[in-house]
Amino acid sequence: MIILGIETSCDETAAAVVADGATILSSVVSSQVSIHHPYGGVVPELASRKHIEAIQKIVDESIQKSGKKVHQVDAVAATQGPGLIGSLLVGFSFAKSFAWFLGIPCIGINHLEGHMNSVFLGSDPPPFPFVALLVSGGHTSIYHVLSHTEFEPMGHTRDDAAGEAYDKVAKMLGLGYPGGEVIDRLAREGNAEKIAFPRSYLDRSAFDFSFSGIKTAVNRYIQSHGDEVAGQIPDIAAGFQEAVVDVLSHKLVRAAMKKGCDHVAVVGGVAANTRLREKVTSEAAKQNLWVHMPPVDLCGDNAAMIASTGYHYIQSGHMTDLCADVYSRVR
Ligand code: KG4
Ligand code: ZN
Repeated sequence: MIILGIETSCDETAAAVVADGATILSSVVSSQVSIHHPYGGVVPELASRKHIEAIQKIVDESIQKSGKKVHQVDAVAATQGPGLIGSLLVGFSFAKSFAWFLGIPCIGINHLEGHMNSVFLGSDPPPFPFVALLVSGGHTSIYHVLSHTEFEPMGHTRDDAAGEAYDKVAKMLGLGYPGGEVIDRLAREGNAEKIAFPRSYLDRSAFDFSFSGIKTAVNRYIQSHGDEVAGQIPDIAAGFQEAVVDVLSHKLVRAAMKKGCDHVAVVGGVAANTRLREKVTSEAAKQNLWVHMPPVDLCGDNAAMIASTGYHYIQSGHMTDLCADVYSRVR
């Protein structure tokens, strides 16, 4: 089954063609980062306008690169939510019209479930059930994953998402938007033990997160150290990152132990983080857990994960009504 995936929930216009839910025939991601960079974050109205300009070209490119013809596409899967309403509307409306025109099924996908399924596009997919840490710019959660379409929530962030904390700290340090990748890179040149930032475990045996405290602690440090800060950016980045990564890896391993699962996964944009990948691997090994992560280029937003999720829903008999609308929040 050949599925065209479309993803436009935030600032990437993406399209992909995936065979049988697992083989990526093409995956095209057009990032709007340079457009939003001067504003220090995503400007929703600009994002939807740019999606409108890009969508037809990106879909055409993904079909052409896949080596398939339009009439060989069996179904279309598109992100229906959560995300920016205007941006979602562009991709989801495009998908519905495409499906209607070809007379094929259209399936609306939850973006977070898309991230969760991205781990099956790597070379080492986990067996069910497993415990997944989803870390992105908008969400930080732990799920007990029972199948490709069944996710039992175990905990969520009570304030900022991990990626959001990276982006806000990068902004405080004058490193621009988005901040995750640049902090990841600078932290490698710094010493994580020079400046200790607080770890917020909340209840150590529960799985909720809070990242607003560490963000405030970094801000306070910057305000109180004036000119010294310019020479300490790699150490601040490393100290901040270590505190975030400690909490994420601790909670993921605890959650797997609580569920009696031997397999854990890390997915979402922040799963690209070098230190998080290392730390989860070393902490999991201490408890004899297997770690599964998507390749770095499938951690951030992409449409292959949406097409793959669509495949599993269609296999289980689901289809979305063409009158369905997008949604901005998790439901
Ligand atoms: O999953 P994603 O592409 O979009 C959302 O669904 O939110 O995640 C984007 C987030 C941004 O906050 C970005 O700063 C963060 O992922 N990110 C990283 C890295 N690469 C991207 N955070 C830490 N380290 C990275 N290497
Ligand atoms: Zn995402």
